[in-house]
Amino acid sequence: MCFEGVPIQNQGMSDLTKPSSHNALIDPFGRTISYLRLSVTDRCDLRCAYCMPERMQFLPKRDVLSFEELERMVALFVRRGVKKLRLTGGEPLVRKDIGALIERLGAFVADRSLSELTLTTNGVRLADFAEALAAAGVKRVNVSLDSLDPATFHRITRREKIQSVIKGLDAAQAAGLRVKINTVALKHDNAEEIPSIIEWAHDRDMDVSLIEVMPMGDVDGDRIDQYLPLTFVRDALERQWTLERDDYRTGGPSRYYRVVQTGGRVGFISPLTNNFCDGCNRVRMTCTGKLYMCLGQNDQTDFRALLRAGASDADLDAALVEAITRKPYGHDFEIRRRNAAPAVDRAMSVTGG
Ligand code: 5AD
Ligand code: SF4
Repeated sequence: MCFEGVPIQNQGMSDLTKPSSHNALIDPFGRTISYLRLSVTDRCDLRCAYCMPERMQFLPKRDVLSFEELERMVALFVRRGVKKLRLTGGEPLVRKDIGALIERLGAFVADRSLSELTLTTNGVRLADFAEALAAAGVKRVNVSLDSLDPATFHRITRREKIQSVIKGLDAAQAAGLRVKINTVALKHDNAEEIPSIIEWAHDRDMDVSLIEVMPMGDVDGDRIDQYLPLTFVRDALERQWTLERDDYRTGGPSRYYRVVQTGGRVGFISPLTNNFCDGCNRVRMTCTGKLYMCLGQNDQTDFRALLRAGASDADLDAALVEAITRKPYGHDFEIRRRNAAPAVDRAMSVTGG
C-alpha cells in the first residue's frame, strides 16, 4: 500500500492551543479522525464466553495508564479535533474511582471541546454510576446484553448478574440517559431470542445494535460454532416485521433500520459480511496506552512508553500525527477455518469494543 502524499497537516505547537480544522487528524484515505475509543481497564466482572476465557489473566496495575496519563492523552486528542470520546474496557465501571475520572473528563464536555462523552458498559454496576454519568454530561450509554433469560445470560457471561443489569438500565433511564442495547448474535445461545430482545428494548424506548462475533483473542471454545451472519438475522426479522432504512448515525459503524411495527431502531454491526470500514472516523487506545489505528490490525503506537519516558506534549503530538499516517484502509477479519488463529491476538476486552 502506498502512503505517499499523506494529507495530514502537521503544524507547530502554537497552532495546537485550540482545536480547529487546521490541525485535524486526517488519515491517508481522507477520513477525519474525530472519535476516540479509550479503554480504561482490561478487567471485567463478567466472563462472556466469546470474549474471554474463564481464567483470564489480567494485567498488573502498573501496566495500566493512570488517570493523569489518560487525561493527558484525551487532551492531546482533543487538541487535534477529536470530538467524541467513548470509554470502554473490559468493563469501564470496575476501574477503581472511575467516577472521579468521568467527572474530570466531563470538563471537556462542559467547555465544549468534546461534543460527546459516552460509555460502553455491561450494565452490572450502572445503577451505582447513572447519576454521576448524567452529571458529567454523558447523554448516552451502550449496554451490552445478549440474553434476557437468566439461565442463558448465566451461560453466556458465566455469571448470575442479569438482575443487576436490569437495575442498571432502570437507573440509567431514570437519570435521563439514552440507552442503546448491544447484542452479539450467537448461533446457539440467542439466535431464537433476538426478536424478543428487540421487542423488549423498543418497548422501553431503547434502540438495539446487533453485532457479529469477531475473531479476536483466544477464548475457551471454538468460535466458528457461534458465528451467526447478521444477513441471516436480518432476513429472519424481515419475515416477521417491516424494516425501513433509517439514516440515523451515531458516529459508530452501525447501519440502522426502523422496525415499523415497534417504532424502534435496530442497527447491524457486520464487520464480517459487510465492509464497515469505508467511513471509519475512529481510533482506539488500550488501557496500556497502545493506540490501534484499526480494530482488525495489529499495528500500533505505544504512548505509555512515550509518556513514561518523559515525552513533552509536542513529542506526543508528533507521535499521534505519525500514527494516523499509518491508519490502514480496513480490517481483514475472516472466520474461515475451524480453530484458525484469531485475526488479531488481543481480545475485545483489551482494545475496547
Ligand atoms: N465479537 C463481537 N463482539 C464482541 N464483544 C466483545 N468481544 C466480542 C467479539 N469477539 C462485544 C461486547 C460488547 C461490545 C463492546 O463488544 O459484547 O457489546
Ligand atoms: Fe476502521 Fe479498522 Fe474499525 Fe474497520 S476495523 S472500521 S478499518 S478501525
